[in-house]
Amino acid sequence: MEVSMPNITLHQNGQVHRQEVAPNSNLVVLAGIKKFPNLRYGCGMGKCTRCKVKVLSGADGLPEPNWKENKMLGERLNDGYRLACQLYITNDLEISQE
Ligand code: FES
Repeated sequence: MEVSMPNITLHQNGQVHRQEVAPNSNLVVLAGIKKFPNLRYGCGMGKCTRCKVKVLSGADGLPEPNWKENKMLGERLNDGYRLACQLYITNDLEISQE
């Protein structure tokens, strides 16, 4: 079976960055090795929320928020926010980070 490359669209400060990533990529890990250079991030461990993104489309393809996201984002989960460092991407995703 052919595994498709998820397509990531990042909206940030009026700019749009589009990129394909390998399946099961973590965007903060990619950012750390300069493979997804525009993403803002911090601890990489679900503790600082600097990697917070708003999911504009593709939320259906994401796993349920884990306990770190629940703890750090709380009600903001209901507004579509997630912690990029806690996500392994398997589907196309459109996010914004302001
Ligand atoms: S990078 Fe710190 S919470 Fe994601």
